Amino acid sequence: MAGLDKDVAAHARRIVSLYPEKRSALIPLCHLAQAQDGWLTPEAMEHIAELVGVDPAEVAGTASFYDMLHDKPVGRYLIGICTNIACLLEGGLELLQHAEERLGVAPGGTTEDGMFTLEEVECVGACDRAPCAAANWRYFGPFRPGSLESFDELLANLASGALDEEVPTHGVLSRTRRQRGLEVPLDQVRSQRVAEDAARRRRQEASADQGDGGKS
Ligand code: FES
Repeated sequence: MAGLDKDVAAHARRIVSLYPEKRSALIPLCHLAQAQDGWLTPEAMEHIAELVGVDPAEVAGTASFYDMLHDKPVGRYLIGICTNIACLLEGGLELLQHAEERLGVAPGGTTEDGMFTLEEVECVGACDRAPCAAANWRYFGPFRPGSLESFDELLANLASGALDEEVPTHGVLSRTRRQRGLEVPLDQVRSQRVAEDAARRRRQEASADQGDGGKS
């Protein structure tokens, strides 16, 4: 498997150019690579490292640290079942057990067809849908005990592609790039970030001088 595709690499370079320090683009690039392959392949991590000027081990360390980044292959859809307090009280554990039975895998497992990876997750901020399930970070629910066939329908619709417009594959955060609305020229974004970075450094130096009590 190669690294980032030509178009993806071009987009990655554009993102890198927005940051005063290249390494600040590391996580956005990880999401970009994940949108391409579904997970962060070793080749993609090497490519990212090259683009942001860090060691590949740093990309690997970042990928293994954050839950939303995957350094191992995952299914086309990540199904996250929340068992945090609001969901727990409404039947989150029952939903998780049901999902395990339907998919035939325990949390962390991927179905044989590569379609679903099941995860038990902490609160995803969709408590109004408790107990809720996330499919590639799009939220669905409530799936209450006694009406779990609606969860089965969700799985069937994902597998059939009926939700392709609503749920992106590969767990990407966003599937659309802004095409309209506020648009700022890239040069302006870049120069503003450089100016903000310089101001931050000046503040840090000033506060270090104050901490020094003016001795130096
Ligand atoms: S507790 Fe489940 S989404 Fe908040």
